[in-house]
Amino acid sequence: MNNILRNVLMRRSVFHFDNRRIRHEDLLAILEEGKILSNAAKNQEWHFTVLQNRDLLQKFSDLHERLRPDVHTDFLGNPALNKRLLIEAPMLLVISGRQDASYAEDAANMVFGGMMLVAEKYGIGSCWLNYASLLFTDEEGQKALAQLHIPEGFTPLCFGVFGYKQPPTPPSVLSSEDHIVNFIE
Ligand SMILES: Cc1cc2nc3c(=O)[nH]c(=O)nc-3n(C[C@H](O)[C@H](O)[C@H](O)COP(=O)(O)O)c2cc1C
Repeated sequence: MNNILRNVLMRRSVFHFDNRRIRHEDLLAILEEGKILSNAAKNQEWHFTVLQNRDLLQKFSDLHERLRPDVHTDFLGNPALNKRLLIEAPMLLVISGRQDASYAEDAANMVFGGMMLVAEKYGIGSCWLNYASLLFTDEEGQKALAQLHIPEGFTPLCFGVFGYKQPPTPPSVLSSEDHIVNFIE
């Protein structure tokens, strides 16, 4: 199996990180290589925020707790996971795009997916965080958002954390018993 295919098949979301900062060279490679992988419209413009400031990450975690009190569990049934991930992971990536670009949000998610795969190559795990737009709905959220210094005209579209895995996540396998594909010929 070649390395790219291996990364695609073996990548799993990571829910536990150690707090080591990501090596700067690896971070640059994830951003550079990952963003090449997808673009919905030609010349789509992106802006990437790499947030490694612990105080601000704590702030986002607090916002999450306050603005999403209705969400007590994550996809896996763990309580308040996103809140914990924002404190535990050493880095939050925010992908912002032009408000008026076609399919901007879908494309941003594709770019994030590409970066998740590239990260695997460097032994770095990642997890999508699916709540972003709701965090910035009130004044306090807007203030926190302003601290990201996202350029005028760009909107944050996709959020996710990256970091070294702790402990390594075992691969999960889709069972052949799962009837989730319908072939119509
Ligand atoms: C669109 C999307 C949004 C997600 N948002 C969250 C999230 O907010 N919090 C979280 O812990 N995991 C999130 N996940 C990760 C899922 O928990 C994870 O994909 C799922 O448990 C399956 O694991 P796998 O990615 O290893 O196959 C998200 C995944 C996707 C595709």
